[in-house]
Amino acid sequence: MSIDIRPADNAPGSARSPGASYQDLLDSDSRPENVPAVLRWQSNEHLGSADIPRRRYVDRDFHQLEKERLWSKVWQMACREEDIPDVGDTLVYDICDLSFLIVRSAPDEIKAFYNACLHRGRQLKETDGNNFELRCAFHGYCWNLDGSLKQIPCEWDFPHVDADEWTLPQARVGTWGGFVFINPDPAAEPFESFLGDFPEHWTKWPLEQRYKSAHVAKIFPTNWKVVQEAFMEAFHVVATHPQLLAGIGDANSQYDWHGNYSRAITPNGTPSPHLSFQPTQQEMFDAMSDRRLDEDPFVVIADGETARSTAGAGGRFRMAEVLGARADELSDAELSDSIYYTLFPNLHPWGAYNRITYRFRPYGDRHDMSIMECMYLDPWPEGTEKPPAAPIHWLGVDDDWTDAPELGMLARVFNQDSFNLPKVQRGLASLRKDITLANYQETKIRHFHHLLSQYVGE
Ligand code: FES
Ligand SMILES: [Fe+2]
Repeated sequence: MSIDIRPADNAPGSARSPGASYQDLLDSDSRPENVPAVLRWQSNEHLGSADIPRRRYVDRDFHQLEKERLWSKVWQMACREEDIPDVGDTLVYDICDLSFLIVRSAPDEIKAFYNACLHRGRQLKETDGNNFELRCAFHGYCWNLDGSLKQIPCEWDFPHVDADEWTLPQARVGTWGGFVFINPDPAAEPFESFLGDFPEHWTKWPLEQRYKSAHVAKIFPTNWKVVQEAFMEAFHVVATHPQLLAGIGDANSQYDWHGNYSRAITPNGTPSPHLSFQPTQQEMFDAMSDRRLDEDPFVVIADGETARSTAGAGGRFRMAEVLGARADELSDAELSDSIYYTLFPNLHPWGAYNRITYRFRPYGDRHDMSIMECMYLDPWPEGTEKPPAAPIHWLGVDDDWTDAPELGMLARVFNQDSFNLPKVQRGLASLRKDITLANYQETKIRHFHHLLSQYVGE
């Protein structure tokens, strides 16, 4: 990585928390030679301190703008490639009132059709499945998997339909990291230029060599950005997840952005600068393993080891089962820290071998309801067949994250996050000002709104 944009000292946005910086922690890694360049990369140009308009979260009119100028124009993740592994597999991807049918039309070809019959407009498919042709259930108009018109029922009655002109309209398709992206805008920039140098961050942690082992979607009674922004900073840890403080450098997180992506790195196995005492290495480890209990039960830190070196050693041991010798090339940092990326507008893959990926979007055409999805992307042992993708598990507004046991201990942390969010939406209705962001710790949220402004034009 070559980019290094750092603000001058004393510039707004250059202030940092007391305590060890993330770069200091990397210096003490027990495998310094394993620390990838991407963790040394820093890029944080201050984007100003202006408030974010409250209307972006509460106004129906702003939702209309997002529909017309964001979701109809932007590259967005529709599904994983393993969701449609076989020719004829179809997946319905809905965004606001638009519906797309993502189709594996050939072994190496994926198409995204507008999910509407060209006769009288019925959705071609309303559920995922496998089809050897795309036949409308209303009157039976039928298309081939490549979108060409296959059959007109009672063709004698449609002399005015030219089969060549009745190919299904398509959105553009791009793939990266095992994700399938679409863009409804024929004039949009190429997918590769939209990604920019984002793929360079993933060369050591290839996401295309993962499969979706869990997929949970929960509906929230809030604007989609309210939920998304709760997962873009560690500033809330002190108030929302106080049980983690002994083992998390919350306010020492590093925040970066460049192009269409941003990143936060929250170090674990290091004490929060909010604490008035110095926890032991064991206390730090136990606090970080509060989230990892499924993986690290009752570990005692050996003499001379630290919470981070112990998490690193345990992680290398566990990952060796799947990654083989490549596990030995991982640093403590990659096995300890929370490295959370955002690819604008709504895809949040976590770095290294943390298996979390989030996606956030409106629920149906609602400006005041949204969907948060948590996918676990796991590697699978080399030389074995890629396991099938887990089906989606829906949770309603009133369902608890612990109703999805496949999420493990993380469900309890999500419950803490989720508790605030409907109250945020309620509060926003009464708020008589705009949203104020921290200069540094809320970098990712400001970067998102900076890009959103470019799309919606305000
Ligand atoms: S609406 Fe599809 S065949 Fe009539
Ligand atoms: Fe949280």
